[in-house]
Amino acid sequence: MPNSLSSAAYQRARQVMPGGNTRASNFEKPHPLYLASGDGAYVTDVDGKRYLDFQNNFTALIHGYNHAEVTRAIHRQAELGSSFAGPTIAEIELAELLVERVAYFEQIRFTNTGSEAVMMAIKAARALTGHHLIAKCEGAYHGNYDIVEVNVTAAPLGGAGYGQARGEHAGVAASAISDCLVIPFNDIEGSRLILEAAADRLAAVVIDPLPSRIGLIPVNATYLAFIREFTRRHSSLLILDQVLSFRLGYGGAPICAAGFPDLCAFGKIIGGGLAIGAVAGSADYMAVFDPSSPYGARVFHSGTFTANPLSMAAGRAAMTTLGTCDLDRLNELGARTRFLLTEALAAAGCCGAVTGQGSLFRLFIGPERIATYADTFAAARDPRLKFVIDRMRENGVLLSPIGLGALSTPMGEADVSRLVGTFKTALRALEHQ
Ligand SMILES: Cc1ncc(COP(=O)(O)O)c(C=O)c1O
Repeated sequence: MPNSLSSAAYQRARQVMPGGNTRASNFEKPHPLYLASGDGAYVTDVDGKRYLDFQNNFTALIHGYNHAEVTRAIHRQAELGSSFAGPTIAEIELAELLVERVAYFEQIRFTNTGSEAVMMAIKAARALTGHHLIAKCEGAYHGNYDIVEVNVTAAPLGGAGYGQARGEHAGVAASAISDCLVIPFNDIEGSRLILEAAADRLAAVVIDPLPSRIGLIPVNATYLAFIREFTRRHSSLLILDQVLSFRLGYGGAPICAAGFPDLCAFGKIIGGGLAIGAVAGSADYMAVFDPSSPYGARVFHSGTFTANPLSMAAGRAAMTTLGTCDLDRLNELGARTRFLLTEALAAAGCCGAVTGQGSLFRLFIGPERIATYADTFAAARDPRLKFVIDRMRENGVLLSPIGLGALSTPMGEADVSRLVGTFKTALRALEHQ
C-alpha cells in the first residue's frame, strides 16, 4: 500500500539498512508488511490491520503470540537477568526437558540459531570422522552457513548434474563449496552414485525429514534407511536437521526412531519464540564438545548469548505446555487443513497442490503434483501463487511468501475455515483476473 505506515517504515528502513532489510527471507516487493504486535493466532500491523497469522515466524511460534505461560516465564527471567557470564539453572532445565522428551539423544548443547546448530553438528562430524566432505540434498535449506548455503535456490541440476555443489551467493568460500556434495532428495540410486564415489572422504550426510524449500515433501522411509545404512557402513554420520520439523511430534519427527540419527540439529519451537538452536546426540559423540576433557574440547563451541536464560526460560515454558494431546490435535487440524485446501483447488477447477505433514502445509498453484525439487522450483516461479497470497493477505490471512503455513495451538476449526474461505475467494479472483 503506497500510503501505508508499512510503506513509510520501509522507506525509513532503507536509509539505514541495505534494501531496508536485515533478514532476506522477510523481504518482499513492493515492501514487507511491518508488524507491531501479536496475540494468540493474530498479528496486527503498524497500520492497525489485524491478520490471522499462519506464518508464525516461519513455523517457530507453535503457541502463536503472547502465550500466557511463555510470556510469564520471559517476564520472570527478565527481572532476574537476561544473560550472565556464567551458566544458569535455566539451561539445565531446558536440556533435561529435551533429553527426556527425545528418545534418540542423550546430551544437548544450545546455540542461538538453527544455522549455528547445523554448523556445530557438521564441525562435530568432521572432528569425529576426520573427514571433510558433507552431503546435502538439492534444494534443502539448512541455514546461513557457508557449506550448506549451496544449491538451495539454484536451477535444478538433474541427472549427471548432481555431485559437486555450486555456490549461488557471493561470499561463500570456494573451499566450502568444494567440501559439499549435492544429492537428489528421496532418490536412492541418484544419491548412491554420488556418495559411493566419495565414501572414504565423507564426514556426514545432512537430511531434513520435511524440507520446506524442496516442497515440504516428507522424506521416504526407504531413502532415510538407505542413508542410515550407507553412513554406518562407511563410518560417516547421519545428521538430521529438525529445526523446522521438530513440531511434528512430541519427540520430534516420528520418522526418527531411537538410535537412528547420530546428531540432530534443532531450533525454532524449542525457544518459545526467542532465538535458539541446539545440537544433540549420544553422549559419546557429544563428548567432542566437552571442555572438561584433559586436552579441552576437540570442537570449540561458545558464544556470548549461547544458552541465554531468556531463551531457555521461554523454551521451557513453551515445551512444558506442548504435550502429546496438543500435538495430536494440531496434527489432525493440519491434515484437515491440507484436505480442505486441496478440495478448494478441485472445486475451483484450479491446478495446484498442497503438501506438508503434521501442522505444516505448503500451497502451490500450477502443478498437480509436487514430488521433487524440480517441481517446486518451477511452481515457485508461477506468479499466480503470489497473486493468491496477496489476495489472502488483503482479506486478513497471512501465509509466508512461498505459500508455507504453520498452525499454532491457539488455532481451531474456525481459523481453518477462515483460511479455506479466503483461499476460495482468492481462487475466484484468480479466475476473473
Ligand atoms: C531445516 C532448517 N534448518 C536450519 C534453519 C536455520 O535456522 P535459523 O533460521 O534459526 O538459523 C532453518 C530455518 O528456517 C530450517 O528450516
